[in-house]
Amino acid sequence: MGGATIGSASLLAACGSDTTTQTITNTTTTTSTVTSTTTVTNYICPVDSQKFSSLADLQDHYSTEHAGNQAENIVTLNVNGKAYALIVEPWWPLAYVLRDILGFYSIKLGCDMGNCGTCTIQVDGAPMFSCLMLAVDCDGMEITTLEAMSDGINLDPVQQAFYDYDAYQCGYCTPGLIMAAEALIKKNPKPTAEEVQEAFSGHLCFCANMTKQVECLVGGVD
Ligand code: FES
Ligand code: FES
Repeated sequence: MGGATIGSASLLAACGSDTTTQTITNTTTTTSTVTSTTTVTNYICPVDSQKFSSLADLQDHYSTEHAGNQAENIVTLNVNGKAYALIVEPWWPLAYVLRDILGFYSIKLGCDMGNCGTCTIQVDGAPMFSCLMLAVDCDGMEITTLEAMSDGINLDPVQQAFYDYDAYQCGYCTPGLIMAAEALIKKNPKPTAEEVQEAFSGHLCFCANMTKQVECLVGGVD
């Protein structure tokens, strides 16, 4: 499945609302509080854009008003600990749904056919090329993207290692590599160079920076 061509209106549903409050304290004298609120309250029909307050209402409407469509293509994707109920077309790649519908822009598309690794995410803890997966097959799965690796202020140890070793140039391949690296380090905290090379074997870096990308993980990260 390469070169996926995505058709028309695609807006799907969403799930609830949440409020995040972060207190940031630096070591000198300043304390500040940042409050961000994300509210997604509507379940939206992908055909006529009518809004509903629950997934059940949307399903009723969809099967009644758009009987020719397949209402059974409703999936729940658990992304970075939050559930998203979506209506998907059966041919939609997971990469498209995560990036273009849900807005997880860390996911980059390179080849769109499984040859470069830039679209790598974790599905149930394993690194996967999201361009090769269908969203309709991922109902109930736990999906992790690069957005979950940092609290928005501090880098996690793998990200920090990439930073410390200058293991990036243009950065286009970096999110996919970091997702593969995170999965490797979780399973094998002190990998050898050969083990890192194997974990990165499906990835291409067009800036030819793979030496540093491997080096920064050998022996583990702090
Ligand atoms: S974009 Fe998925 S492997 Fe290249
Ligand atoms: S850093 Fe540019 S493609 Fe890898």
